[in-house]
Amino acid sequence: PEAITVGELAKRMDEKGADLVKSLFKMGMAVTVNQTVDQDTAELLVTEFGHNIQRVSESDVEIGIEGDEDKDADLKPRPPVVTIMGHVDHGKTSLLDALRGTDVVAGEAGGITQHIGAYQVKTKEGTEITFLDTPGHEAFTAMRARGANVTDIVIIVVAANDGIMPQTIEAINHTKAAGVPMIIAINKMDAEGADAKNVRARLLEHEVVVEEMSGDVQDVEVSALKRTGLDELMEKITLQAELLELKANPDRAAEGTVIEAKLDKGRGPVATILVSRGTLKTGDIFVVGAESGKVRAMVNDKGEQVKEAGPSVPVEVLGLSGVPGAGDPLTVVPDEARAREVAEYRADVLQRARTTQTPTSVENMFSAMA
Ligand code: GTP
Ligand code: MG
Repeated sequence: PEAITVGELAKRMDEKGADLVKSLFKMGMAVTVNQTVDQDTAELLVTEFGHNIQRVSESDVEIGIEGDEDKDADLKPRPPVVTIMGHVDHGKTSLLDALRGTDVVAGEAGGITQHIGAYQVKTKEGTEITFLDTPGHEAFTAMRARGANVTDIVIIVVAANDGIMPQTIEAINHTKAAGVPMIIAINKMDAEGADAKNVRARLLEHEVVVEEMSGDVQDVEVSALKRTGLDELMEKITLQAELLELKANPDRAAEGTVIEAKLDKGRGPVATILVSRGTLKTGDIFVVGAESGKVRAMVNDKGEQVKEAGPSVPVEVLGLSGVPGAGDPLTVVPDEARAREVAEYRADVLQRARTTQTPTSVENMFSAMA
């Protein structure tokens, strides 16, 4: 079969090689820009990136110039997607609880986060911020990598009484690899032995230079327990988000990403989708990974049924044919025939790709991308 390197394909698509590598990674293929993919995989990538495919000859993949990029005039401001990362027990979920005024930690088995929780919090100005919580446990590397991929800003939580730990460093590396700005939240300032100065100094060793040390990484001292520093944290997120000028077109067929998915005893396959552009509506027909479906119902982060979800909004979606993989893209399509066709095509390509690619570790992936 004909093959093309990821780097060459990226050049023809006028996309970044690292973005293609990330997409392939989400499909379960660990390849670097210098490695080749077969024609079917190349076509799949081209479709994922919204370009048109023209097969000029069996050996070539030509990319049409008109993709489905949104026009500037159609773009509207959207909420930032902020992922909370850090070492186990440094207070990620507590901090998010404090920001939301909830108590998720109390309901967690052993106080350990096992999945990515997605929530929206309103700022004082009335705008929304979308937060993704991640587990700090070392077993959950892939979830942190995934979190870094769909996010605009990462908050690295460091317990002031514990300092920089292995998953802190890992989170910093994921964030840098994803090219996303980070904000350091120095938590547990109320605890005995809390030493924010030491945290800042140790961050230097990992080339994270906070503002106080004349760098450009924002940092803020907080206590999730005593609920201090929270306003300042929200302000810093808002400031960072404003700099990014985040926009999306809400008036188009929706696209999004699976944050997590499971088979629910009562409700069948359920996926938490983070909408990236467009507006997802009940009744919409979609393809998600190698599955398809029709939105039967949507539930927001407050447990309420909703009929629509716009850009940066996380929703649980019911009505899937099966359980998709985390990180899988969701695309709304015109009709069920088209949905089945695309889903079958993707399943077929993924099946073949998985049997021909050698898996590498996530660490290799990121070093390959850097
Ligand atoms: P994982 O999800 O397992 O990685 O942990 P996490 O980072 O979400 O930590 P979590 O919020 O579950 O908090 C861990 C422990 O630290 C809990 O016992 C919290 O009560 C405690 N904790 C969190 N924030 C603070 C704080 O600001 N001060 C003090 N003293 N304790 C805190
Ligand atoms: Mg947690």
